[in-house]
Amino acid sequence: MKRLFDVKENLFDNPKPVDLLASLTSFATDDDDLVLDLFAGSGTLAEAVAGLNAKEGTDRKSISIQMAEQIEEKHFAYKKGFRSIAELSRKRAALAIEASNGSGLRAFTLASGNMKRWAGIEAKDPDTYAAQLEAFTDSLAPDWQPQAVIWEVALREGYSLTAKVEELDIDTSPTFWRVSDEDRSFTICLDEALTLDAVAPLGLTKDDMFVCRDTALDDTLAANLALQCRLKVV
Ligand SMILES: C[S@@+](CC[C@H](N)C(=O)[O-])C[C@H]1O[C@@H](n2cnc3c(N)ncnc32)[C@H](O)[C@@H]1O
Repeated sequence: MKRLFDVKENLFDNPKPVDLLASLTSFATDDDDLVLDLFAGSGTLAEAVAGLNAKEGTDRKSISIQMAEQIEEKHFAYKKGFRSIAELSRKRAALAIEASNGSGLRAFTLASGNMKRWAGIEAKDPDTYAAQLEAFTDSLAPDWQPQAVIWEVALREGYSLTAKVEELDIDTSPTFWRVSDEDRSFTICLDEALTLDAVAPLGLTKDDMFVCRDTALDDTLAANLALQCRLKVV
């Protein structure tokens, strides 16, 4: 950790032996295995896997999960600006992967979803019920962000954390994104309105999954798209 973070002090009281974890990983896993650390702490195993890949020319991947446990002020890591162990763990993995010319790191933070959740209503009068229904015309939460919604849809569809998300380079006003993972993919648009002409350049077929906002479709477009492709709405 001292070498990676370029410091002389211990960032923590009990640093774990990276080489030992690398040796254990080397004999316990295959060259392209996925190593999962559910209690990643400061990220020793992520560093070990990155170093092992560089040393052995292997292609192991790792997933580290760490809750946002706060770092106490007494630790040197706090003085270096880290406020949670997850933050430090993420930085350590990034530095280790960079130092070993690894293929990259993707970091996710657990947050509440971007879809509004129907919580029911206490009042029994029709006006309150109608107002609540109206509020759900658009199912996206008020502060939704495109990347977060795209990832939420991808994960719900069972796509992996290493799926590729790219904006499609086509000359239309709605923004389309393609999410691909191994041998499958879907296209998603989060614009407020869509037309058949705007979707035409995608050349959607029965095998293609297309995701858009429910509020972007009128009944005719919804019926057309449902015939043309596998339509899903958020
Ligand atoms: C002993 S540390 C792991 C040390 C790690 N091997 C390292 O290299 O630093 C265990 C970590 O698991 C986390 N943890 C403990 N209970 C947890 C739980 N129920 N869910 C998620 N994380 C938890 C704690 O925040 C703690 O940082």
